[in-house]
Amino acid sequence: MEKMARKIVVTSGKGGVGKTTVAAYLSAQLAKRGQRVILCDADFGLNNVDVVTGVENLVVYDVVDVIEGRCRAKQALVRHPQYGNLYVLTSSHAAPERYVSPQALKVVLDSFAPQFDYIFVDCPAGIEEGFHRAVATADEAIVVTTPRISAIRDADKVITLLKSYELNSVSAVVNMTRGDLLSTGESLSPKEISSLLKTPVLGVLPDEYSIYKNDFTDIHVAFRILANNLHTGKRRLYDPTKKYVGFLGNVRRALKRSL
Ligand SMILES: Nc1ncnc2c1ncn2[C@@H]1O[C@H](COP(=O)(O)OP(=O)(O)OP(=O)(O)O)[C@@H](O)[C@H]1O
Ligand SMILES: [Mg+2]
Repeated sequence: MEKMARKIVVTSGKGGVGKTTVAAYLSAQLAKRGQRVILCDADFGLNNVDVVTGVENLVVYDVVDVIEGRCRAKQALVRHPQYGNLYVLTSSHAAPERYVSPQALKVVLDSFAPQFDYIFVDCPAGIEEGFHRAVATADEAIVVTTPRISAIRDADKVITLLKSYELNSVSAVVNMTRGDLLSTGESLSPKEISSLLKTPVLGVLPDEYSIYKNDFTDIHVAFRILANNLHTGKRRLYDPTKKYVGFLGNVRRALKRSL
């Protein structure tokens, strides 16, 4: 049988916890490893995947043009100038109010599946129509949360909802983890979050101010580990407390507090 792309929706329930960031970085990491990747923006309201990935000036057609027959599916894929194996499929800027059915989006993504290894679907916040549309296209889900209780509670609701879809796997990513708070026990650990959600944690990402500035920051290391877990099935987790142990760690923690 032909090899088909893994179709993975990145969702959260709560807004602003890092779905788009996780989808974009994971896509870039896997593309860098030689995987052929599509990153689909299924957030038809806020559609910012093109801006986050820096391709906004290269977009000619979007997924709504494909669905409404204005172009062929391939014409809507925007090849990333830096990561040649990464293709971005944007959602509509011109007509955000256009109705796009879950079936129509799924047909477009399925048509790409034989030629790609991964298709990531960036889900909108909330659990309404846009959530359903994004999840209905996928066969795996990554639920992004932060260590905050409000985010975990929403992640839990989403995980319950995901049970009514026939997904092969559901895992969690803990984003914006503060190593300083974790090392003093002021923040829930990935292990505690995993048992609260009854869901395996696929990755831990640090809260990082300079997220878009530097290629050598901890968050890039953490994303590399996350991409490796997803690709190989391994379960190594980035440890955000490492830099907060020992003498230097105490200094860093004290500095972070005073910020
Ligand atoms: N690990 C991180 N450290 C620091 N800032 C982060 C981190 N992850 C995401 N951010 C920032 O948090 C903001 C929200 O992230 P993002 O847009 O990815 O969230 P989202 O879940 O897609 O939001 P929405 O629900 O609106 O779609 C962005 O400004 C992003 O740069
Ligand atoms: Mg988003």
